Amino acid sequence: MKTLVMSYSLTSNNEALAKRIAEELKLEHISISEPKKRTFGTIAADLIFGRTPQTYPEPQVMSSYDFIIFVAPVWMGQPTFPLRQYFKQLRKHPQKYAFVSISGGGMNNNSGLADTLKRKAGIEAAAVIDPHITDLLPPEPKPTAQTLSEYRLTEQDAENLTKRAVAMLKDKIK
Ligand SMILES: Cc1cc2nc3c(=O)[nH]c(=O)nc-3n(C[C@H](O)[C@H](O)[C@H](O)COP(=O)(O)O)c2cc1C
Repeated sequence: MKTLVMSYSLTSNNEALAKRIAEELKLEHISISEPKKRTFGTIAADLIFGRTPQTYPEPQVMSSYDFIIFVAPVWMGQPTFPLRQYFKQLRKHPQKYAFVSISGGGMNNNSGLADTLKRKAGIEAAAVIDPHITDLLPPEPKPTAQTLSEYRLTEQDAENLTKRAVAMLKDKIK
C-alpha cells in the first residue's frame, strides 16, 4: 500500500517518533507546518472557537496515497488542532489512516481518543497507538503537569516507542 507518514509536533516528541517510524518502514514523511508561530493563545482560541488552523501541505496531497499514518500530539483529549484540515479531507474523501501519538497521559489517559478520531474523520482509524510519557517516568514522585509537558523523548525512548508502533503498523500497510 502506498503509505505516507504525516506528522505535527510542537515540542519535538512526535517529530522524533515520526522520523524513526518513516525510516524504519521506508515511507515518505511530510512534517506539517504552520505559517505563524503557535502559542498558548492560539491553542486556546482554536479550542474555544473550533477554528481550523491554516497548515501546510494542502490536504489534497493525501489523495496520492492509500494509507496515511498521522503522528502528532493529543491536546485536550483530541488530535492536535493543526490536523483539523486533514481530518476534514478524510470526511470528504474517506481513506485508511492510523493515528500514532506520544502524549502526556495524566488525567483520563485519553480514553475517548478512538471515538473522537472516528467522529472527526468520519471513519474509524485502522490503528490508534497512544503511549504515554507517564509510562516512561518512574511512578514516584507522581509526575506533575509541568514535568509531563517538559519531558523530551530520549534516543532510547524514541527507539523503544518506534519498535512498538512499527510492530502494530506493519500488517496494516501491507
Ligand atoms: C495544549 C496542550 C494540551 C495537551 N493535552 C493533552 C491531553 O489531553 N492528553 C495527553 O495525554 N497529553 C496532553 N498534552 C501533552 C502532549 O501530548 C505531550 O507533551 C506531547 O508529547 C507533545 O508532543 P510534541 O512534543 O510532539 O508537541 C498536551 C500538551 C499541550 C501543549
